[in-house]
Parts: sequence; structure tokens; C-alpha cells
Amino acid sequence: MNIELTVNGDTHQLDLDPRVTLLDALRDHLRLTGSKKGCDHGQCGACTVIAGGRRINACLSLAVTHDGGAVTTVEGLGQDELSPLQRAFVEHDGMQCGYCTPGQLCSATAMLTELDQGWPSHVSAELDGPYDLTEAELAERMSGNLCRCSCYPGINAAIRQARETAE
Ligand code: FES
Ligand code: FES
Repeated sequence: MNIELTVNGDTHQLDLDPRVTLLDALRDHLRLTGSKKGCDHGQCGACTVIAGGRRINACLSLAVTHDGGAVTTVEGLGQDELSPLQRAFVEHDGMQCGYCTPGQLCSATAMLTELDQGWPSHVSAELDGPYDLTEAELAERMSGNLCRCSCYPGINAAIRQARETAE
């Protein structure tokens, strides 16, 4: 199938088997290897990208379903300079091997937007925001992104710093 995909602001025409996932389209067809394949089963979050403004697991989504859509990968988060969240990850040592980092960055970027937009999480006491980024909220909202190196203290500190500097 021929599809059109805008990735990080650049529009591409792709001729794909309908069974190709968005993750494989990004990595194998567009050579954007920032998004990582960890489990390929929607369990680790390493493949998280932002599609249509929402964070998704690219390994669970077929590329053809994004025909005409826009996707942001880690390569698109800080094109001219690091985003505040990326800088905070560096400052707080939010990574060790770095394999989960692209997914953590995309997920946290979209999560902070969700928070601003008043989206509740599973642990929110109220259905209407705004919400504070409590320990429980942060853990729940980032629970789809696993880090095998267990860098959670640095990751959490970085997300909090990015949240505070944005306020
Ligand atoms: S590779 Fe997609 S969730 Fe693990
Ligand atoms: S930094 Fe190694 S998996 Fe997270």
C-alpha cells in the first residue's frame, strides 16, 4: 500500500506491506533508529512515539493506519537543540545503557502535555484536572516505560525538573 507519513516535520511516501508496524516503518524504511524495539509486544515502552499528539507503542500500531498522519520520534524532539526534558535527562543521569531513553523521552513529553490538558490517570482522585505530579501520578503515568537499568530516580528527577521549568 502507498501511504504518506509526516515524521518530525518531513513528509514521506512509503510503499508498505499492510502488516508492517509503525516501528518497523520508522526503523527499517525511514532509517530513524532512535525508536527502539525492546519486547515488540507492547510491554516495555522502548518504541514509544507521539502520533497525532498522543503517545503510542509503535510496535503495536500498523503503519498504514497512520496514512496522512504526523508522527514525532525522539529525533524530532530537539532538532536544533535539546528539549528541556532532554537536557534534564542529561543533568540527572536519567539513563545508563540508553536503550529505553528514546521511549522515555517521547512518553514523558506527551505525558506532560496530557497533564497540562487535565487528563486523569488511573490514580487520580478526581476526573477533572489540574493534577500535581505526585509520586503516584508520575509512577502511574510512566508505568508503560520500563528501564532495565533501573534509572528511575534520575528519570523521575528529570521529568520533575522539566515540569517545574515549564510552569
Ligand atoms: S517494543 Fe514496543 S512496547 Fe516494547
Ligand atoms: S537506561 Fe538502560 S534500559 Fe533504561
